[in-house]
Amino acid sequence: MSLYSCLFSLTSFSILFGIVNAQTNGISLRDKMEEMEHIWVDNAGINSDGFVNAVTPCSNYVGFASDATDRGEQSSAQWVRVAFHDFVTGNLSTGLGGLDASVGFEVARPGNEGLFINDTLQFMLPTVTAYLSMSDNIALGVIASVAECGGTSTGILPKVGRIDADGAASGLVPVPATSLENTLAQFEAAGFDQSDTIALTACGHSLGRVHYSNNPTIVNESYVTSTNLDGGEEFDSTPAVFDSTVVNEYLNGTGQRGGPLVTAPLVADRSDLRLYVSDDNATVESISEESAFQTKCTNLFQRMIDTVPAAVTLSDPITPMTWKAVDLMLDISTAGVVSISGLIRNLYTTTAPPDTVSYTTTSSGTNSTAQTSSTTSGNGTSIFGSTIYWPFNNTLNSPGTTSLNFETITYPVDDTLFILPSQSTVNSSTNEIVLRAAALTSSASGTTMTGVFYVPTSQTGTITKKITNTTLEMSSYGTAGNYTLFEGSATVSQSTSIVAKVLLGGVGSQTVKTKIFVGGV
Ligand SMILES: *[C@@H]1O[C@H](CO)[C@@H](O)[C@H](O)[C@H]1NC(C)=O
Ligand SMILES: *[C@@H]1O[C@H](CO)[C@@H](O)[C@H](O)[C@H]1NC(C)=O
Ligand SMILES: *[C@@H]1O[C@H](CO)[C@@H](O)[C@H](O)[C@H]1NC(C)=O
Ligand SMILES: *[C@@H]1O[C@H](CO)[C@@H](O)[C@H](O)[C@H]1NC(C)=O
Ligand SMILES: *[C@@H]1O[C@H](CO)[C@@H](O)[C@H](O)[C@H]1NC(C)=O
Ligand SMILES: *[C@@H]1O[C@H](CO)[C@@H](O)[C@H](O)[C@H]1NC(C)=O
Ligand SMILES: *[C@@H]1O[C@H](CO)[C@@H](O)[C@H](O)[C@H]1NC(C)=O
Ligand SMILES: *[C@@H]1O[C@H](CO)[C@@H](O)[C@H](O)[C@H]1NC(C)=O
Ligand SMILES: *[C@@H]1O[C@H](CO)[C@@H](O)[C@H](O)[C@H]1NC(C)=O
Ligand SMILES: *[C@@H]1O[C@H](CO)[C@@H](O)[C@H](O)[C@H]1NC(C)=O
Ligand SMILES: *[C@@H]1O[C@H](CO)[C@@H](O)[C@H](O)[C@H]1NC(C)=O
Repeated sequence: MSLYSCLFSLTSFSILFGIVNAQTNGISLRDKMEEMEHIWVDNAGINSDGFVNAVTPCSNYVGFASDATDRGEQSSAQWVRVAFHDFVTGNLSTGLGGLDASVGFEVARPGNEGLFINDTLQFMLPTVTAYLSMSDNIALGVIASVAECGGTSTGILPKVGRIDADGAASGLVPVPATSLENTLAQFEAAGFDQSDTIALTACGHSLGRVHYSNNPTIVNESYVTSTNLDGGEEFDSTPAVFDSTVVNEYLNGTGQRGGPLVTAPLVADRSDLRLYVSDDNATVESISEESAFQTKCTNLFQRMIDTVPAAVTLSDPITPMTWKAVDLMLDISTAGVVSISGLIRNLYTTTAPPDTVSYTTTSSGTNSTAQTSSTTSGNGTSIFGSTIYWPFNNTLNSPGTTSLNFETITYPVDDTLFILPSQSTVNSSTNEIVLRAAALTSSASGTTMTGVFYVPTSQTGTITKKITNTTLEMSSYGTAGNYTLFEGSATVSQSTSIVAKVLLGGVGSQTVKTKIFVGGV
């Protein structure tokens, strides 16, 4: 299986994924996709994550170095460059590498000098969970950067399912002094031919700068000023706009004339010039017109972020959801009455949201009477429109409830085995989490329940955390109607970005974020 099998046979792989592979790490594919949708869509107001705000405006910098605003750095350019340096170590022949966050282990390599890798990984760390790997975050970072820098917001499709590497890749990153032949061989191994390589380089170099601090033979020291401490020299005169200016300035000999990797004092450092002239400027000329540039770069960036190890199967594309449920949770009263609660989100542009939303639950094949939620609890904004939220909470006809339905959406519900978020707690000073759950007594007797926390955990050699399982023994502490109640606790290495599930006789519950537990963060 090649690195690209996911691209060439998307449909059959998606089907395979749905049946066989939907739970590679015990997390449902739908939960993963909805998490990426959330990070991509919800960026102001309630339920906001703020990921996209890091590259809004395109010139913004959210790095962690001192004197951040005076460094001459730009997060959008860093995010695109991180993806580029991560993917290019992939090798189709071995099926290894590609977009897998191995770049975090490769910070000390030639070509990876500077702040861009650690800045990016550090910023994205809070959104690394069992639902979304660092490499999925890096992929989304490219999409967000292009969208916020004046490129497409819908042309590069987000997909989820990348698996982070646990060490450095064997392939190398081309550096300015790398020969044309070796540069092309490296890209060829990752699946990009000469013309792809030239265009992808120009696309990436539409944003940002080369810095004197890491490239003193390329950028003149005179670029270092009190408001440009790292001495950044732009690739083109619009470093915070994703456009074809870099190509036109190169071809016309105007402005930045293609940037420092075209004009470097040492011929050996002129890696972009070597690439651009290697096909007599044919590729750069073919993308000098703005719409051709956008189309080509959209296509190549999609291929870049979808270049993944052969073991990875990517999801179908994720599109903003008009209707979705957020923070779904079940609860149980002392009498054994089960309730379902959460928020229903509507994403809208021109069609104003309705005053009320109705929902039903399906139990033993029968739909409940429609329940109505008429009071909203907050709103937000996004690239794709405004959001508005209706809280809801209703009792279920349990056991036997299988789905929650509203508008055209149905969510699976498992009321035979479920975590009780509103009876579970997180102590964020001690990192102790108390997990409570309920299981149908008829299936719980004679079986043990185990709790699982998926915890992002520090690892040596990279800022990226690895998701490791903390398992805990759950003991029964009582009954409520048809259900037996279980409790367990564990102290974990951090109290944020954790996902929980319980297992009973090998069967898993639906997962929830411990963020929705009492005290959760
Ligand atoms: C973590 O637990 C889940 C659920 O049991 C399992 O599917 C997954 O393989 C585990 N992951 C690791 C790394 O042990
Ligand atoms: C890719 O892997 C193949 C097979 O191991 C190897 O022969 C080739 O040199 C690698 N290519 C690069 C650019 O590392
Ligand atoms: C930097 O620019 C100055 C002024 O143009 C020039 O004199 C100097 O030689 C340049 N330094 C390098 C290393 O190119
Ligand atoms: C470059 O030249 C072309 C053709 O004359 C022109 O359309 C374009 O605007 C120029 N671009 C720049 C950045 O000067
Ligand atoms: C490519 O374009 C550059 C910049 O306009 C020019 O200097 C060079 O002569 C061109 N090379 C070829 C082979 O067309
Ligand atoms: C129950 O509601 C769902 C979702 O609205 C619908 O698809 C289904 O046909 C309904 N079932 C019955 C038995 O009415
Ligand atoms: C929420 O709605 C109110 C009232 O329409 C509006 O003033 C506010 O700007 C909205 N907030 C967001 C984040 O969209
Ligand atoms: C939903 O309402 C029930 C009472 O019907 C209550 O026991 C439960 O705690 C509520 N759920 C949440 C999350 O507040
Ligand atoms: C967290 O644990 C500490 C130490 O046991 C305790 O003092 C504190 O009250 C706990 N916080 C909460 C919110 O329970
Ligand atoms: C980046 O982070 C890694 C892992 O924590 C660390 O070893 C390295 O020194 C950092 N590099 C820079 C340039 O900050
Ligand atoms: C639930 O409890 C009722 C009353 O005790 C009992 O009749 C019913 O069989 C139980 N259902 C299940 C699925 O255990």
